[in-house]
Amino acid sequence: MSSLRTSIHGQWSSRWIFILAATGSAVGLGNIWRFPYLTGENGGGAFVLVYLFCVIIMGIPIMMAEILLGRRGRKSPIYTMEALAYEEGLNRNWRLLGWLGVLAGFIILSYYSVIAGWTIAFIFKTGMGDFLGTNAKQTTEIFGNLVSSPGILLFWHSIFMCITIRVVSQGVSGGLEKAVKFLMPALFVLLLVMVGYAMSTEKFIDGLRYLFIPDFNSLAEKNLFSDVFLPALGQAFFSLSIGMGAIMIYGSYLSKDSSITFNCFIIALADTSVAILAGIAIFPIVFTYGLEAAGGPGLIFVSLPIAFGQMPFGTFFGCLFFILLMFAAWTSSISLLEPAVTWLIEAKNMSRVKASYVAGFIAWLLGVFTVLSFNHWSFEFSFAGAIKENGLFDIFDILTSNIMLPLGGILVAFFTSWLMSRKSTVDELGLGDSLSYKIWRFVVRYIAPLGVIIIFLNAIGFFKIFSIGN
Ligand code: TRP
Repeated sequence: MSSLRTSIHGQWSSRWIFILAATGSAVGLGNIWRFPYLTGENGGGAFVLVYLFCVIIMGIPIMMAEILLGRRGRKSPIYTMEALAYEEGLNRNWRLLGWLGVLAGFIILSYYSVIAGWTIAFIFKTGMGDFLGTNAKQTTEIFGNLVSSPGILLFWHSIFMCITIRVVSQGVSGGLEKAVKFLMPALFVLLLVMVGYAMSTEKFIDGLRYLFIPDFNSLAEKNLFSDVFLPALGQAFFSLSIGMGAIMIYGSYLSKDSSITFNCFIIALADTSVAILAGIAIFPIVFTYGLEAAGGPGLIFVSLPIAFGQMPFGTFFGCLFFILLMFAAWTSSISLLEPAVTWLIEAKNMSRVKASYVAGFIAWLLGVFTVLSFNHWSFEFSFAGAIKENGLFDIFDILTSNIMLPLGGILVAFFTSWLMSRKSTVDELGLGDSLSYKIWRFVVRYIAPLGVIIIFLNAIGFFKIFSIGN
């Protein structure tokens, strides 16, 4: 009986802690660093629109499915999938879905930690007043100097990985609760301050227009599917932390009486608001100071410092902003490592501390590729209409967000809605056999998988290959 099952790894001390921890996982660099730069690269308002669509139609229902599986299995994603498959009379190889997630988690964490390292470096740069009165050219230069120094990147990457390992080694609830309870709201307020600054810039309205009004003319030369839909889909999965077992493992610590549906809506709402606020804070600055919207992964690091260099108390706000962003990244990175750590504990009988160091070390090592892809090993290639300059980093990012996460997501959707018995999901979701349940099931059965498949196939030009005529 699933209701009697508990996780050997612990349980959240209250239902709010789950919401906080899951929001902590969802809100991170994905919202503040990745969302704006992808929006800038992939067509502004149209990208935002498709992104919101993907969050609502695919993200939330799949998140519900993933949490449902986690809570029912109460183990690491690998063993959860194996146990549930066995329970439902299915092939145990469903555990491979858990493996896919663990692998994606390592790859994401490896570069996530490097970018989080940039954030730490910027805490010091802003704190020491490096940006006072700087213009776009100067901030771009400061950022350029940072990423072209592999030693410095490696240093901050190592520091960030150490603090991630440290928290994971102590079990996920402890320190995380406090971090999320105070720091998340603080980050939110600071973003509002930044939006306030953005309002005072010349191009505020242009920024808003760029974000919220799809300009289909600007898409004329792009392939709608590979250039807008696929990255938006990937961003929805990345930002909500779904498709790799992170939210599944958090679900495994969730008590039986907590409403999965309610939780998911709150988490998605918080996550999406932070991303949109970040967009509103950044694009007016980008346009006012003549920066390139499609400037790539450095976008927030070259735009926001200009604002900090100009606004009253900018050094203080800037320093605080990057501190809070580092914490947000930290509460996310923990969830990237947790699935692998729980598996090592279960399968290899390791202590949590040892498991955390082993898994963290692997991710750290992999991160060295990302460190080098911004300098010695950078190479250019074109993907989705944008020129990508940062070789392996871009490949890791695209492979995980645009391929592995959506793939993991449809497998989760397929498993819960086609293979698990109806009774199991009714029992676990706690909505009864209500209309809400029926809508969820319909969406997870048909709409979400079809949506992902159609975007995949169109993005790789499958339908073009088979179309008759041109
Ligand atoms: N969602 C986080 C962010 O937006 C990153 C993250 C944490 C993540 N856990 C994840 C992404 C699991 C994909 C899968 O920064």
